[in-house]
Amino acid sequence: MERTLVVLKPDAVQRRLVGRIVDRFETKGLRIVALKMLHVSDELARRMYAVHEGKEFHPPLVEFITASPVVAMVLEGVGAVQVVRRMMGATFGPDAAPGTIRGDFGVSRRYNLVHGSDSPESAEREIPLFFPPGELMNYEQAGDAWIYARWKGELI
Ligand code: RTP
Ligand code: MG
Repeated sequence: MERTLVVLKPDAVQRRLVGRIVDRFETKGLRIVALKMLHVSDELARRMYAVHEGKEFHPPLVEFITASPVVAMVLEGVGAVQVVRRMMGATFGPDAAPGTIRGDFGVSRRYNLVHGSDSPESAEREIPLFFPPGELMNYEQAGDAWIYARWKGELI
């Protein structure tokens, strides 16, 4: 089962959208395996967005993500990285399709509510930045049998 890092950014917390956004992921069928509120430090912001170091938008991006607490979580599911990215929508609200998180909740080209790992490799790099292994929960949920079908040994 694939895991992905999701961070509800300061604008999502400040606008009291945490519950509505988490609800979308849960309702979709993704499993929460870790979740916490934290204040992203300057150092963590730089590690999280290391790939964007040197770009014009990097300083304001670091300022944004460190401005106020965030809610970080790890979500698990088949193809979870891509499922979450599709639920988030295009990077900025004005371009994001209605029905996506960014498309439904934002209009800004800076404040875009949510971060999601963009590949399984990124998820493997990003998850340990926010969660030590002991904070990732391995558990069964009562409804698991009806989230995926089983077919030839696979969950589909
Ligand atoms: P994220 O990493 O936050 O999930 O967003 P993303 O994959 O959709 O976008 P990415 O290209 O990775 O950019 C990371 C974050 O940097 C800010 N950004 N600003 N041209 C700009 O002003 C610009 N481009 C990107 C956004 O906050 C974006 O989420
Ligand atoms: Mg990205």
